[in-house]
Amino acid sequence: MKFFIDTANLDEIREAQELGVLDGVTTNPSLMAKEGITGRDKILKHYVDICEIVDGDVSAEVIATDFDKIIKEGEQLAELHDQIVVKVPMIEDGVKALKYFSDNGIRTNCTLVFSAGQALLAAKAGATYVSPFIGRLDDISTDGLNLIAEIRHIYDNYGYETQILAASIRHTMHIINCAKIGADVMTGGLDSIKGLLKHPLTDSGLEKFLADYKKGN
Ligand code: E4P
Repeated sequence: MKFFIDTANLDEIREAQELGVLDGVTTNPSLMAKEGITGRDKILKHYVDICEIVDGDVSAEVIATDFDKIIKEGEQLAELHDQIVVKVPMIEDGVKALKYFSDNGIRTNCTLVFSAGQALLAAKAGATYVSPFIGRLDDISTDGLNLIAEIRHIYDNYGYETQILAASIRHTMHIINCAKIGADVMTGGLDSIKGLLKHPLTDSGLEKFLADYKKGN
């Protein structure tokens, strides 16, 4: 499973990259605003800065919601760097844009996906990635992981190549369960990625090994 980090914070991106397990980055307008990145020029520069830190795909989200403007904005984003993947919302004009981008060799990430039907449409339109938001479903007492399993089943039935990018990851168990189900990618915060490291038996075991080594040296 590929690991993407879901942030626009350059220090966190660097830290995840240095850990050696990072395959890409997802951002969204809220994550950009959180880092104080506002205004078109600053936002575009920030995407390039991110691409220079990581080796993998970097999702850059369009703000436009009508077809012509999504295409214009998406083409501008795609030209920034060859690691850019254009993030398009799951709306009617977004589906049309996914098809257009797919026909024109521009890679896409279909975002704000909350149902298997939406994921089916994204795959049919040729999206490179589909982003089901599992944490936000859990937040409203709906089983987010079940959606990942449904999409996996549907895509495998027909051999769709769209990659399932489990998004809105809240904690380590989301990552582990997504891996069990067979999500292609997960995107989460640095905390959830580093949370996978932790086990009390590792800590106590290491403490004892080091103490025993010191006894003999
Ligand atoms: C995905 O691409 C989104 O940026 C993200 O995962 C949303 O997560 P949130 O529900 O924590 O905002």
